Amino acid sequence: MTTSLSLASAESASTSAAQRHRGSISAVPAIDASQTDEIAAAFERKTPFIIENAGQNPHNVDMSFIEERFPDLQVTCFNPESNSEHIQLDDLLARIKRGEKYRLRADVFLGRRLDRFFKTDYFDRIRGYARTLMDLILHFFAGKKWAIFLSTPECKMSNHAHINSVFVIQLEGRKTWHLDFRGLDEIEHKDLYPYDFLAEKEPNRELELTLEPGQVLYLPAYWFHYTDTDEVTLSMHYLFAEPMSYYFRPAIRSLFFYELFKRPLGMMKLALARNNEIGFGDKRKWQRTKTEAQLSFLMQNDYS
Ligand SMILES: [Fe+2]
Repeated sequence: MTTSLSLASAESASTSAAQRHRGSISAVPAIDASQTDEIAAAFERKTPFIIENAGQNPHNVDMSFIEERFPDLQVTCFNPESNSEHIQLDDLLARIKRGEKYRLRADVFLGRRLDRFFKTDYFDRIRGYARTLMDLILHFFAGKKWAIFLSTPECKMSNHAHINSVFVIQLEGRKTWHLDFRGLDEIEHKDLYPYDFLAEKEPNRELELTLEPGQVLYLPAYWFHYTDTDEVTLSMHYLFAEPMSYYFRPAIRSLFFYELFKRPLGMMKLALARNNEIGFGDKRKWQRTKTEAQLSFLMQNDYS
């Protein structure tokens, strides 16, 4: 009795910390790159914000740039049937031009190829030149510093949250983001994946923003997010981890400890896997292993 009571009070404490954290902003602020003090303060608050005129795409990388430079590169994409497919980049782009629904999600191979056209200095400065142990694992052992996302109209993805933070550089097209922060007991699908939390979409409580080329979005670790678009969009994502003090904050620690103790292997597997998003697009395996209810949730999100 005492145990269940104290568990319940721990859960409600975690929920109210989450509510305070989410409630500390009512909209995602857009700050001009020249306002460096404001950017530093927003980063310190650990809530999402947009940087305008960030100037972080100096080589104007876009769809035609990647088509010209890397036509023969093999990529793993999600095809219109929501299955993973390995094809050449020029073939993928030709299908997209014909209006077919394809997607690249967190492509670290293309991210590595594009590394030399981007710099991390700007983000390092915002981060106060912090280097974390998880950065070391992500950037040096797993080679996952940059990842490319390419979406086409109608693509859907699950509302999810993960251990790493990201700076998103929007390269081409406009993409709408839905952001939310939740306590552990507000998350419906904690264990559907071996890593990442998944949750139902609740547009009424989400912060919404549309990212345009030239803008950068800061998305802190464990903020829930999903995107949609009605055009072809391309973005480059700088992946990193926050200092440990962030993961011990009252609003964050229940999520972090849940992952740490309940699925350390899933997290480590993700950190070190060749692909950044293992399991996404693994529709055939899920159809064999998931329940009807889980499958209907995954189906609504293109199994990704
Ligand atoms: Fe994500």
